Amino acid sequence: MSGGPQTQPFDTFDELADVFREHVAPNKLAYYQRMGLQMVMGEREGIWFEDAYTRLRFINCHCNGGVFSLGHCNPRVTRAVADALGELDIGNHHFPSGQRAQLASRLSSTFDDALPRVVFGVSGGEAVDVAIKAARGSTNRTKIVSVEGGYHGHTGLSLAAGDASFREPFGPNLPGFVQVPFNDLGAMEAVIDDQTAAVILEAIPATLGMPIPDPGYFAAIRQLCSDRGARLLIDEVQTGLGRTGRWWGIQHEDVIPDAIITGKGLSGGIYPITATLLTREMHTVLDSEANPFIHISTYGGAELGCVAAQTVLDIVGQPGFLERVGSLSERFAEAFESLPFELRRRGLFMGLRFSSDIEALGALLRIMQQGVFCFPAGNDRRVLQFLPPLIISDDEAADLIDRMTKAFA
Ligand SMILES: Cc1ncc(COP(=O)(O)O)c(C=O)c1O
Repeated sequence: MSGGPQTQPFDTFDELADVFREHVAPNKLAYYQRMGLQMVMGEREGIWFEDAYTRLRFINCHCNGGVFSLGHCNPRVTRAVADALGELDIGNHHFPSGQRAQLASRLSSTFDDALPRVVFGVSGGEAVDVAIKAARGSTNRTKIVSVEGGYHGHTGLSLAAGDASFREPFGPNLPGFVQVPFNDLGAMEAVIDDQTAAVILEAIPATLGMPIPDPGYFAAIRQLCSDRGARLLIDEVQTGLGRTGRWWGIQHEDVIPDAIITGKGLSGGIYPITATLLTREMHTVLDSEANPFIHISTYGGAELGCVAAQTVLDIVGQPGFLERVGSLSERFAEAFESLPFELRRRGLFMGLRFSSDIEALGALLRIMQQGVFCFPAGNDRRVLQFLPPLIISDDEAADLIDRMTKAFA
């Protein structure tokens, strides 16, 4: 596994903890200690990472919500960025850029050019903000509908569209944001009106515990939005880029949205880059003749990030890659059938649902004892988010299944 002298500046966990407690986040540290978890990312490679101090090894089945879908330090992505270093930097975000143009065109082609305009960012929250700005600006409306327990990031507009618990200490919410329960079409129908700029939804809400959308749910929302002049924005920060066995999770629903938001795995975990794919109509407000600089992000679409992202697209776009995600998914489903949880699954976007938070935590600790890392969903802790790297080999998948079976023996 990779790891040189620069990867761990402290000799012991206690030394690291003292400095982290004092200068970074004492309560985050305490939280993990209460859970019985001591995790410091040490050496990492492919599907594996190692705790830097206990030297315990784990198959990463959380993947930071898809950041490491192509494994840790994917050699192709790493090499591409390393080769570009010294020749490219972030570029100039105001000037035209071949790197950005090429990446935008390739992203657009993953959705048959239905969303041909791409705005780049650095974080998922920023990319969500872009989609909401474009929806508001292109409709001259302000109301934004999202789902309770959904998660879209911690920046301005994305925070406003998310869970109340993340906003309450910071003052009243921005006006115009409304939430309804997921998979409740009646509630959606009641709330989308002629003031609604957009509905924003994850293709499968990860933080809510990965409930699979009811058949027809998205198609009906698409219809409601079209009938009532609202935009449909799909947050694919976790579900995109092959995770569900298609380029985008929404492609399972036969729905064409007005925007797709992607992040996390787009960088391969190497260099931050995110993107918001938009229709021409949505984009006009961000690139008008009157003010083409109305939306700016200095590091958004950094040329080094574009190199990382293009390599990610090369890998996911290889013939057979997406089909393999589907067949691995079937293999896990079969193997997990006799295990004591409900499996929520679309491709390798999986949630293991237990009957209580405590049961899920107990299961997590047993799973980790077998050298597998996954993590509870923030807004439904009965569910363990289980996202194996998409590049897992057949032998590694067999090993993972074996470990999971032993965890519940
Ligand atoms: C569905 C979804 N949207 C948006 C975000 C925000 O991304 P970032 O943390 O890069 O701002 C996340 C992050 O976890 C996410 O899971």
